[in-house]
Amino acid sequence: MKRDTTLVVGASGATGRLLVEQLLRKGMNVRAIVRAGSALPSHLLSHENLTVISASISDMPQAELTKVVAGCGSFVSCLGHNLSFKGILGKPRRLVTDAVRNICQAVSQGESDRPLKFVLMNTTGNINHDLNEVVSVGQKLVLALLRLLVPPHADNEQAANYLRLKVGQDNPQIEWVAVRPDGLINEGQVADYELHASPTRSAIFNAGKTSRRNVAHFMSELITEEGLWNEWKGQMPVIYNTP
Ligand SMILES: NC(=O)c1ccc[n+]([C@@H]2O[C@H](COP(=O)([O-])OP(=O)(O)OC[C@H]3O[C@@H](n4cnc5c(N)ncnc54)[C@H](OP(=O)(O)O)[C@@H]3O)[C@@H](O)[C@H]2O)c1
Repeated sequence: MKRDTTLVVGASGATGRLLVEQLLRKGMNVRAIVRAGSALPSHLLSHENLTVISASISDMPQAELTKVVAGCGSFVSCLGHNLSFKGILGKPRRLVTDAVRNICQAVSQGESDRPLKFVLMNTTGNINHDLNEVVSVGQKLVLALLRLLVPPHADNEQAANYLRLKVGQDNPQIEWVAVRPDGLINEGQVADYELHASPTRSAIFNAGKTSRRNVAHFMSELITEEGLWNEWKGQMPVIYNTP
């Protein structure tokens, strides 16, 4: 059986490693870019379908990234700024946006007979401006403050904007989905979850819960299930745990 290959960035993160596990379980080949000093669990590292590239995506020369991207049919970013002073306020301030842009540019250097898939792990704190998503004045104010004062929030917004506005809806080389979880929690097993085109609750004043395992499950299904991909491509689905 010819297996497809997915490149995962942010693979060492709490959600990224769950995604790698689920993709490997589905028989996919996975390339994971993991920076020095970080690691994946040993049961994943020993898997024959996993290739780990030891590098920091934010420092990777474009020519090298183009080589890593070649031969991949799908790309997932589970990147997020570390919750430390340096992670939130230090460089790279546009970790996620730069990675999304650089991967998309590397993809556009290659040749493929079909559009390749890009899945971005985003947040319900980001509004999909393609839809008429209404948020309260209070939430708008808080989001404006976050945008100004918390670089990772602006980064998440700009990363999704890159896909929405630069890659767009009819790109012959790349199709995309930006997955928006609410408050992330850890759970031991994949459980029931709900998908919505737009948030059904306030991300700021009434946040729901989304387990990282469910996010990883949905993202892996987007990669392998064509029907699901066609249902959500070019959109920013919101994922909540079923209460
Ligand atoms: N917390 C929430 O409730 C919530 C809700 C919705 C959405 N989100 C979004 O979900 C995303 C992922 O969440 P998570 O909890 O799975 O994240 P996480 O565990 O913090 O993982 C972040 C990943 O990004 C990598 N990374 C961080 N800084 C980097 C840098 N400078 N260069 C290269 N790689 C770097 C980390 O690598 P290392 O292992 O090397 O550090 C790790 O692989 C984030 O974008 C977050 O904004 C969060």
